[in-house]
Amino acid sequence: MLSPETIQAVQQAALIEEVVGDFVTLKKRGQNLWACCPFHHERTPSFAVSPGKGFYKCFGCDAAGDAIAFVKAIEGISFVEAVKYLAQKYGIPIQETEDEHQDIAAQHEKDSLYILMKLAQTYYADTLWQHAEGQRIGYTYLQERGITDEFINQFGLGYSLDTWQGFHTYAQQQGYSDELLEKAGLIVHNQEKLYDRFRGRVIFPIHNLSGKVIAFAARRVKASDDQPKYINSPDTPIYHKGDVLYGIYQAKQKIKELDSCLLVEGYTDVIALHMAGIQNVVASSGTALTDAQIQLISRFTKHVTVLFDGDTAGIQAALRGIDKILEKGLHVKVILLPDGEDPDSYAKKVGGLAFQNYLQQQVQDFITFKTKLLMKGVGEDLTRKATVIKDILQSVALIPDVVSRALLLQQTSKLLHIDESVLLAELNQLIFKQEKESRRPHKLVHNPVKELQLTAKRGELMPLNWATTIEAYEQESIRLLLNYGSMPLEDGTPLSTYLLRELADVPFQHLVYKEILNIYEQHSLQGQPVNIHVFIQHPDEKIQKTAIDLTASPYEISEKWEERYQINVSKEEDNLHRTAYKNILRLKLRLIHQLIEENNKLLKDNPDVEEEDKLLQVYAALKQSETAIAQQLGMVIVG
Ligand code: UTP
Ligand code: MN
Repeated sequence: MLSPETIQAVQQAALIEEVVGDFVTLKKRGQNLWACCPFHHERTPSFAVSPGKGFYKCFGCDAAGDAIAFVKAIEGISFVEAVKYLAQKYGIPIQETEDEHQDIAAQHEKDSLYILMKLAQTYYADTLWQHAEGQRIGYTYLQERGITDEFINQFGLGYSLDTWQGFHTYAQQQGYSDELLEKAGLIVHNQEKLYDRFRGRVIFPIHNLSGKVIAFAARRVKASDDQPKYINSPDTPIYHKGDVLYGIYQAKQKIKELDSCLLVEGYTDVIALHMAGIQNVVASSGTALTDAQIQLISRFTKHVTVLFDGDTAGIQAALRGIDKILEKGLHVKVILLPDGEDPDSYAKKVGGLAFQNYLQQQVQDFITFKTKLLMKGVGEDLTRKATVIKDILQSVALIPDVVSRALLLQQTSKLLHIDESVLLAELNQLIFKQEKESRRPHKLVHNPVKELQLTAKRGELMPLNWATTIEAYEQESIRLLLNYGSMPLEDGTPLSTYLLRELADVPFQHLVYKEILNIYEQHSLQGQPVNIHVFIQHPDEKIQKTAIDLTASPYEISEKWEERYQINVSKEEDNLHRTAYKNILRLKLRLIHQLIEENNKLLKDNPDVEEEDKLLQVYAALKQSETAIAQQLGMVIVG
């Protein structure tokens, strides 16, 4: 484990604008620096970096954090790795605490595994290039498949000798223990025997995002073999199959640049596409995409194009997997290859340029593709047609973006020759059902006033959800505390003292706000002014994000918003006392409403006379408090 001192030193040394500046180009405007967000696609910058507060925040997507969080997210690495990266950048020596043996051991083990995998990769590559068997079998095989030296090198391909103790002996000579070799999945332990996992195969290294080798896939070279075509590394402490996409390291820059990602099945497909001049490609490695893999793609682009083999019997099954991509808000397109071809074979057959042209001409949007595919052979069978329509609408219903959904519906209506209004009615029913099933919580709007306005505008007849409203007022209290805690009120006491006193008897219902309040209180008990960095650099990601969201409110950070909405920034500070007072009264009022509601429920359900009497007394007391607070609130609002 890293020592707290090391983490602290990194937090103090790392300048957010320098750290972010290594990955995106920042432009200064007002107090902040701006860029197009590296975590989602956009054309106008809504990604802000605040040098003063030491955080980044995107107003377009959910991204926010401090320097360490940024490195973590952009490089796809762990907290510890991110701290180490920054320590190196700023020349800070890394200290590790000694008390937690297991953590160090685990971290050391991972480090050793990375080193070992690199050693293995070099060994297999050297065998391919320098060993007679490697040349005769491995290299010849790759040549026959048309993979040139340049691409053998670029993907680090290699060859494993057809023997039981090739790499094992070599690694032992280098001082590696059998235990680590087995943990890395490089040797197999079977009935007292230890031997190489990969024998007589061409080796494809699998890289993580930052280019480290974390696993291998090994392809047999003889067609006659009764062995499986590929043998893959098992899951290890540094490799989780479901989290990785083959080729992502080689593709990530191009995916960002072109804002699109091609998805193929096989390792050789990825390499063939690179050779055809197409670099924004990754492989799912033959299985359905996992959530983690979709998430990985969506960090670089929201546009996925799936290449289907011409004869895939499994297209129908693959359709389900694609629904999952849609659900995550990505836009999906499809390219169907000619019969009997996969991306590798077809690219080799027609050559790079023709292949690129083919992709451009054949690309179609997923829903259209699915519609055509499913409608094929349905003919005039009405029942079957109805089933197909439902199936297609099910996919459309998964798309979170309303506009994309509407456009697709239009298109579907044309393709199916069915009136759009009929489809819409069916679609709405599906969406309603899906929402009910997933019980999506109402999306919280940051500003409680805005929330009320929005609710009013939607013309909803439903009573306001107390829990949601209370959360909004709790949030507002915390926002005031974090932004203006140290500002003095008219009588000179800081706002934080006032807020903490007033909130002392208010039980917060939402964990993250409760925690922030507690931390704030503890710090101010120690008599220090509370620095916002306590929260912005807090190890709990939820606290960190909440603090950033609340302090990077448009009022504070974005001059852009100020211009657009003519918000006068100084106003809020001038009226702090009143704002805080009003907010606390409103919070208390809501809490009382909630109590009254609960009390009423008990009254309704409880026929017991004695109990009823008690409940009625509670009711009266609550009503009294309600009136008192409402009066005060009225005075504040009027006065
Ligand atoms: P394919 O059979 O399409 O293989 O399986 P491929 O990648 O095109 O390989 P070549 O061109 O025949 O050499 C697609 C993917 O499924 C996984 C691999 O990730 C492969 O790239 N797979 C396939 C395995 O993991 N094991 C196997 O035995 C077969
Ligand atoms: Mn293939």
